[in-house]
Amino acid sequence: MVKKISDKVQFLKPSGIREFFDLVIGMDDVISLGVGEPDFTTPWNIIESAIYSFENGYTSYTSNKGLFELRNEISKNIKKRYGIHYNPETEILITVGVSEANDLAMRALLNKGDEVIIHEPCYVAYEPLITLSDGKAVIIRTSPANGFKLSPGDIKKVLSKKTKAILFNYPCNPTGASYTKKELSAITNALKDRDIIVMSDEIYGDLTYDFEHTPIITLPGMKEKTLYLNGFSKAYAMTGWRIGYACGPEWLIAAMNKVHQYTMLCAPITGQIAAIEALKRSYNSVLEMKNEYRRRRNLFISGLNEIGLEAHMPEGAFYSFASIKKTNMDSKTFAKKLLHSEKVAVVPGTAFGEGYDDFIRMCYATSTDKLKEALLRIGRFIKRAGK
Ligand SMILES: Cc1ncc(COP(=O)(O)O)c(C=O)c1O
Repeated sequence: MVKKISDKVQFLKPSGIREFFDLVIGMDDVISLGVGEPDFTTPWNIIESAIYSFENGYTSYTSNKGLFELRNEISKNIKKRYGIHYNPETEILITVGVSEANDLAMRALLNKGDEVIIHEPCYVAYEPLITLSDGKAVIIRTSPANGFKLSPGDIKKVLSKKTKAILFNYPCNPTGASYTKKELSAITNALKDRDIIVMSDEIYGDLTYDFEHTPIITLPGMKEKTLYLNGFSKAYAMTGWRIGYACGPEWLIAAMNKVHQYTMLCAPITGQIAAIEALKRSYNSVLEMKNEYRRRRNLFISGLNEIGLEAHMPEGAFYSFASIKKTNMDSKTFAKKLLHSEKVAVVPGTAFGEGYDDFIRMCYATSTDKLKEALLRIGRFIKRAGK
């Protein structure tokens, strides 16, 4: 049969992460610094709450918006931590990970040709999701010279009549860059008089190491124009449970829910019950994991610089986006050769934006022993490459 795939999907580029990791499958003794997920399993009390829910027969759909108890916990949590109120009835939607929330937001907001500003390097899904919703991604490139951070000037330069939204992700995957309250205020000032939606993917917010994370919704005038996105995958080590959430203006949450009710219907009930337990009783576990990631970050980044890879200090998340310029290899060649000769898996920088062929991303959410061994192997590889 003739393949009848739509042009939009036909020309969508495959994820640079998955594409590369097909190579890793089936290889033994590989140290994977590739896929971005915690090496911890979900804290036991959270797992137990899920087991208990099965034992009690909680195996059904939930309301489209998600269990009220979870929306209410999220609302209470944001109020307690940041002083911002979201109505759990109308302003919060539970989604299948932040991934679904990002997709719903694009679908709910964009008409053909609408522009969404994104920064690069960035999470692999943003540009494809914008394209799938007929929008146009307008890219601001960031670099190590400015700590991979956006400036108000960068944003002003690309704002246009067609700008519908701007998408921030901080701490950032893949660079770990984040913003202090002062830096963030400067950015939001640039958006003050503009009628555009701010999408703020703060999935790594709880994994900020050197200063307090400031949600963008806490800055003056921002709550009304912002869709705040967060979830349980990273901070609570719950990637497989698939629970995220979106908080925002009632009209936008209602529009997203319209799409959600016909596509996902609802997020999995077991994950939602587990997420309630996460919010009610598990923040200490988050802090413990965060302290461990901080230790690993310090060890890994100084190790990378010692072996001659220039790596800036990430302020959050659990990635290093290091320069491989000195090796004179492009990022795919570097990653493939490193994998085949030393069995260390990293992700080529081009997966996160076209201009990043001089970089690789490494996830340091793995044990200290493995990180030390990976540093030895990468060091050996670079030495050989330099000869
Ligand atoms: C910035 C960012 N947003 C969203 C996601 C997806 O998260 P979830 O598991 O909640 O769908 C990821 C996963 O790597 C991410 O890095």
